[in-house]
Amino acid sequence: MDIDKIIRELSSLEKRVLLTLHDLDGKASPEDIFEKGNFSQHVEVMNAASWLQAKQLVKVEEHVKTVYVLGNEGEDFLEHGLPERRALNKIIELGGSARLQDLLSILKQHEIPVAIGWLKQKGWATITKQGSDTVLTATESGKTIIDKEDEDEKILRFLSDHPNSVIDKEKYIHLVSRKNVVKEKEIVAGVIQLTEKGRQLLKKDIKIQDEITQITDKVIKEKSWEHKPIRPYDVSAFAPGVHGGKLHPFNVLIDDIRQIFLEMGFQEIAGDFVESSFWNMDVLFIPQDHPAREMQDTFYCKQPGSIEIKDEDIIEKIAEVHKNGGSTGSDGWRYDFSKEEGKRALLRTHTTVNTIRYLYEHPTPPAKIFSIGQVFRKENIDATHLPVFYQIEGIVHDEHATFRQLIGILFEFYKRMGFEKIRFRPAYFPYTEPSMEIEVYWNGNWMELGGSGIFRPEVTEPGGIKAPVLAWGLGLERLAMLKFGLQDIRKLYQSDFDWLRNTPL
Ligand code: PHE
Repeated sequence: MDIDKIIRELSSLEKRVLLTLHDLDGKASPEDIFEKGNFSQHVEVMNAASWLQAKQLVKVEEHVKTVYVLGNEGEDFLEHGLPERRALNKIIELGGSARLQDLLSILKQHEIPVAIGWLKQKGWATITKQGSDTVLTATESGKTIIDKEDEDEKILRFLSDHPNSVIDKEKYIHLVSRKNVVKEKEIVAGVIQLTEKGRQLLKKDIKIQDEITQITDKVIKEKSWEHKPIRPYDVSAFAPGVHGGKLHPFNVLIDDIRQIFLEMGFQEIAGDFVESSFWNMDVLFIPQDHPAREMQDTFYCKQPGSIEIKDEDIIEKIAEVHKNGGSTGSDGWRYDFSKEEGKRALLRTHTTVNTIRYLYEHPTPPAKIFSIGQVFRKENIDATHLPVFYQIEGIVHDEHATFRQLIGILFEFYKRMGFEKIRFRPAYFPYTEPSMEIEVYWNGNWMELGGSGIFRPEVTEPGGIKAPVLAWGLGLERLAMLKFGLQDIRKLYQSDFDWLRNTPL
């Protein structure tokens, strides 16, 4: 540790606290340092002490301390006199003795027994019975105390001048135990103590000098640096972090993905959350008795419960495809297609509904389309599942599109996302052939991230789509979990400030 450097970086207040502590044998309360060091404000001491503590030159310790203050009655006694004092004054005023009735003008009813008790206790008066009268007579010590303060009065005045002081509770128990006379209070008190490092430092010559601590316009105008030293900044000193507003890391990731597809020559499309079963499933050759259609996975809507499909012609064609393959060369599913089933309104279960709609509206190639949007499925929420999640969807519609190209595009996308090790596995979707799953290798495991394939003729033919269509739908939250190193998918949607602040963008 470079002691000279530390000394150079001390402010003059820090130096003064150190030197004052030195004079006070290395340990003192902030109040004592304040007084002894002639500081002008208490905060100067506390500020300097906390800086010194950060530099390990002092240790600030706090502990609970019992102190005493005057209560209402104590203040009243101080102003108007203790009951026994008022009684004594009256007795002397009346020539050295008084009857009990004479005290009624200066004492409240409840104060009379108190006054008599203490007059006796303090030995200021004797009490005798004369017929039916109680007579109080001042003693010698009562006569001598008349123009002096007794111990009780002194302590009341002391507490009035020095509230929150420590007094000998045993000695003044009669005041402390009297209600609202002297009150007990607990306060947190600090002790500032030199550390070993602080003591070492004080062996050096520490001068408090006029120095420049901030470069102001005045300093520049007056060229003060020519005759005053500049105190160096300690750039390694602790400072509280400042957190500005920033984008949510998940939104930034979505923008990055969008950017990647745009750079790869794709165009973005968007669609509605509420869709018909027809577009979400029928057109995609998902049989109407498919388990995924059941209430298990799909959220069906109450309002609207159904959606009219405008194009009768397309419905007819899709119905034929499901029944017997129509003109696609397929055998179809061989069941009775229900147009009513197709009208049921639902929350889209995948964004493939967007791309198939787009294809039906733009049957002529070429097209490279993508979308990023939320889909809805009946899932129980846990560390890896959400009922609302994003999909990254896309198609390439091109005369010369091939399966190899599909693999290449997905490879390229994940590579640009920072994932080098991915693999493809055969899979099944009712609307693609061949179909494959994409998996990413991460932390020793293969994670399933999405599905893809080439749309079947049953899907494309009824829309007049002749060229091959490569298609994929990828999970976004899982990807985000890998990117951000999250163990729990829910973290993405919780406003955990620490996580939000500390996640680099
Ligand atoms: N729609 C599929 C899913 O939600 C993904 C997919 C999209 C598969 C396009 C093949 C082609 O998992």
